[in-house]
This record gives sequence, structure tokens and C-alpha cells, in this order.
Amino acid sequence: MLWVGTSWKMNGTLAWARDYAGRLREALADGAPEGVQPFVIPPATVLAAVHEVLGEDSPVLLGAQNAHWAEAGAWTGEISVGQAADAGAELIEIGHSERREFFAETDDTVNRKVRATLRQGLRPLLCVGEPGAVFDAGGSVDHVVGQVDAALAGVSDLSTILIAYEPIWAIGEHGREARAGDIAAVFAALASEYGERVAAILYGGSVNQRNAAETLAVPGVGGLFVGRSAWRVEGYLELLEIASGLVRA
Ligand code: 13P
Repeated sequence: MLWVGTSWKMNGTLAWARDYAGRLREALADGAPEGVQPFVIPPATVLAAVHEVLGEDSPVLLGAQNAHWAEAGAWTGEISVGQAADAGAELIEIGHSERREFFAETDDTVNRKVRATLRQGLRPLLCVGEPGAVFDAGGSVDHVVGQVDAALAGVSDLSTILIAYEPIWAIGEHGREARAGDIAAVFAALASEYGERVAAILYGGSVNQRNAAETLAVPGVGGLFVGRSAWRVEGYLELLEIASGLVRA
């Protein structure tokens, strides 16, 4: 099974989200492509609408891009895991590098959020990745394994957890596409430490329809976590098909 999902980040109106979800529902009316688990992570403002359009029996897992560790209370601007679940989320994205860099997420807050998500029966999607300077200095494996160790401290059952390795230097408009050789060592380390215990380890960062197959061929890669290349529904569907083709081959 390969996991292939997208975060829309801070993009999309209700109208845009409903249109995307409607076309996704239609395209997957007979189920997801064989061997692939799709997931979509919209902004919180459109989560309930996307859930409604996809319908209860959708093969697409829905997620939230962040949730607070507390169940409720005076945390202005935040949403709880329970609120995300109420809006249709089954998965909570935690610790994306944009949140670590710009919103003061630390290994400690990431760990709290992982534990809160598991406590409430949702699936954490734990994001990790090293800055370019660490990559250049040859420190990727230590950095990334250290982030995962810290995020999962005190957690004994990891079986529902997804890890997404997203090197910061590879993410977004100014990112550099990773080659297999750039990420193989981190996947080897994560797979040997966590591969048997988590649900899957995904790769993210400038994934597109051209490099998806090469990325999925790296040992230990169990799926793709995609931004820009899946923000058109046709682009996302193409990535699901590429993954399915590899599973069936
Ligand atoms: P891009 O695919 O746009 O580089 O974004 C990756 C990402 O950050 C997914 O969360």
C-alpha cells in the first residue's frame, strides 16, 4: 500500500474546495486506484465542506494541517483535535517545517500534539526534515532521526502513525528537487529504526508527476506527500495512478 496525499496549505476558498472535492469524488467513485490510500489536507475553514462533498464512504482520508494538544479552552486562533474530527478529519498533520519555522513549533509541542492526536483516536502525520545547511554538512540522518525520536517520546504504539520526511531545501517554489541519492540514507535510517513500527514513511518536497516514480523506488519510501503538483485535481489523480501502477507492476 502506498499513501499519496496533498496539503493545500493556505490556499482555497469554499467554492474552489467544493469543486476540487466534487471532481475527486467523481473520479474515485469506484474506489481509490488499486494499492493506494489517498489523503487530502485542506485548510480548516473548508474541511467540513470537503467532507460533505466527498461523502461518508469516500476512499479519501481527510486531515487537518494542525491541531492543538489541549481538548478545549483559551487558546485563541487554534483548533483542537476534537474540533478537527468533528469537521471530518481522521488525520492530523503535525510539525510541518513551515509551522516549525514561522509558528514556533518545537520538538516539545510536536510531541504533545502527537500524543493528543493518538489519545483522541486520530492518525498523526508527523513531518520532519532538515535545513539545507544541515544537508550540506552531511547531518541529515542525525537531524531527522532526532526529530522523530523527540516527536515520538513516550508513545508506545506507533502503528497508526505516518511519518513524512520533507527536507526543507526541497519544499516549495524555491525548493530543489531531491534525487534518490539525496534521500536514500535518511530513508534507510528511518526504515531501520521505525519502518516496522509505523504505518508508513512518506517523502515530500517538490514531488511532481515526472519525479514521483523515481522517488517511490527509493527503499523505505511508502508514499508521497505533495503540495503544488496536486493543487489541480488532475495533477493529484495522475500521482495516484503513478503510484498504483508501481504497486501493480
Ligand atoms: P511542495 O510539493 O509544493 O514542494 O510542498 C511539499 C509540502 O510541503 C507538502 O506538505
